[in-house]
Amino acid sequence: MTHDKHDLYELCVQSPKDLVPLVRAIHGGDPRVLGEDFSGTAAFSHLWAERDGCSAIAVDLDEDALSFRGTHERVTKRHSDVSDVSDPIDVLFVGNFSIGYLHTREELVAYLRHVRSRLVASAGVFICDTYGGETAYTLGAVHRAHPMPGGKLCRYTWEQHEADPTTGMVTNLIHFRIERAGVIEEELFDAFVYEWRLWSIPELRDAMHESGFASTQVYAKLADAVDDEGNAYITPIVDACEELEDSFIVLIAARV
Ligand SMILES: C[S@@+](CC[C@H](N)C(=O)[O-])C[C@H]1O[C@@H](n2cnc3c(N)ncnc32)[C@H](O)[C@@H]1O
Repeated sequence: MTHDKHDLYELCVQSPKDLVPLVRAIHGGDPRVLGEDFSGTAAFSHLWAERDGCSAIAVDLDEDALSFRGTHERVTKRHSDVSDVSDPIDVLFVGNFSIGYLHTREELVAYLRHVRSRLVASAGVFICDTYGGETAYTLGAVHRAHPMPGGKLCRYTWEQHEADPTTGMVTNLIHFRIERAGVIEEELFDAFVYEWRLWSIPELRDAMHESGFASTQVYAKLADAVDDEGNAYITPIVDACEELEDSFIVLIAARV
């Protein structure tokens, strides 16, 4: 049996049930219309739109990924470059380091200005993630195992394959291996290949301010920030030395 790489990505990489409460908590109000740029399968948008009165606009260049989950009456899918979509929104989320698709500062600032113009409400917020710290430019891999139906196991590998601290460019790979009782059933090597600019926190904050956002905050993305009832506990970082691990993932918010 062959496995779809988008299914495996959703199983191993994404956790919208944790991210949706975090994005709501960071926004701090009652945002209704979500923009999800670089959305992939739009798993985040689909969960967002489950709440009464909420809707989402998901944007991706990859039609296969975008159509993977089928339709949802309150999720609009735009098969487009993120810069060509102008639907008004209350909050915009860019996840899984996709802000790194913007390779130059000029592209980053132009994109952020565009996002700023879509955030219609005075409470509008843009949120993206990035990683950093002592292993930011280290080559190597992280492995995790995820149980699958039918007693199978998906072994997931996130590999930093290339990293150049002089340019900020990194190449990250995702591999999957499906096993049953220790026997390999299928391997998807290089299932996803990303060539990204790894933006630092201050580079992103500077670009956000330059693009017209009034304020920015940084939040540590901690595994225990959301409880079993879906309540999120997250506050902006005040003392980075105390609150950030040596290697970290953060969420950065830019407010209109
Ligand atoms: C790392 S995936 C992120 C998926 C999703 N955001 C998540 O959290 O898992 C990045 C996605 O960005 C899309 N993409 C890259 N450049 C784009 C662009 N300029 N406009 C729209 N989508 C783009 C790719 O097709 C890919 O599906």
